[in-house]
Amino acid sequence: MHGKVIVMTGATSGIGEAAALALAAMGARLVLIARNPERGGATLERLERANPGAGHSVYHADLSLMAETRRAAAEIAEREPAIDVLANNAGALFLRRQVTAEGLERTFALNHMSYFGLTADLGHRLAPGARIVNTASAAHRGTRFSMENLQSERYRGLEVYGRSKLLNILFTRQAARVFEGTGVTVNCFHPGVVASRFFDDKPGGLGFFLRMVKPFAVSSRKGAETLVYLASSDAVRGVTGRYFARRRPAKITDEAANDDSARALWAESTRLYASA
Ligand SMILES: NC(=O)c1ccc[n+]([C@@H]2O[C@H](COP(=O)([O-])OP(=O)(O)OC[C@H]3O[C@@H](n4cnc5c(N)ncnc54)[C@H](OP(=O)(O)O)[C@@H]3O)[C@@H](O)[C@H]2O)c1
Repeated sequence: MHGKVIVMTGATSGIGEAAALALAAMGARLVLIARNPERGGATLERLERANPGAGHSVYHADLSLMAETRRAAAEIAEREPAIDVLANNAGALFLRRQVTAEGLERTFALNHMSYFGLTADLGHRLAPGARIVNTASAAHRGTRFSMENLQSERYRGLEVYGRSKLLNILFTRQAARVFEGTGVTVNCFHPGVVASRFFDDKPGGLGFFLRMVKPFAVSSRKGAETLVYLASSDAVRGVTGRYFARRRPAKITDEAANDDSARALWAESTRLYASA
């Protein structure tokens, strides 16, 4: 990965930070998009120790807001003419329905629309043979796609989160088609159940359940292995449109394999991103 440029979201914590540190240690230069300047600065220091003098950088944005996503992408596009890996990884579980200042349901905005917006706005800066890696989840299982319910008017936190991860797979498969013939590959993965901040600070019964589960979850470093693999391994050169778990292609549900849904999601995301 020496000399490779990796743009990554959600790298101030958990799976993203572990992946960023591993890739930096392999020689890559990391370009982070972080929401919290303090955590962004702390991760930057760790990256500097992992790969000193590489010139890692951090841009700031709340990725649940499309205006901030677009601004960060524009700043990066101006300074980075050849991006080798775009890792869309920032995501969260929200137990209550919230609507952003731009009118988007927050899980949909952060977990799906930021992936879409960064890919759309940085696509022209991807180097030949670049890789897009999207963090999805096995939580997509059991959820259904509905164009009428993208903004989850009826809200159940875990279900809405799972559906956002279904969107990550649909988005990955459609993006692979869009980039076909360009040499750019697009894949996604399930990291496992990972003991990150994802489990923290959730109220009520579900919060209690998540805190009980956390001690049995794998480390962030383990959870990052498939991201690092998809970003760096020769074994997946040219492989595109696939969903991985434990560094191997894994099965997706019929819902996630539906090409009509993927195309409809892409068209609606294009419209929403343009109007946000
Ligand atoms: N943990 C699991 O078991 C698990 C399983 C399957 C999939 N995943 C997925 O893995 C990805 C990473 O999660 P994690 O487990 O590593 O959780 P985490 O430790 O909570 O990390 C989440 C990262 O996303 C960033 N982020 C959250 N909201 C943001 C916003 N509005 N704008 C910009 N950045 C934002 C956080 O930044 P701050 O530092 O500012 O909070 C942090 O860097 C997510 O997509 C998640 O859905 C996790």
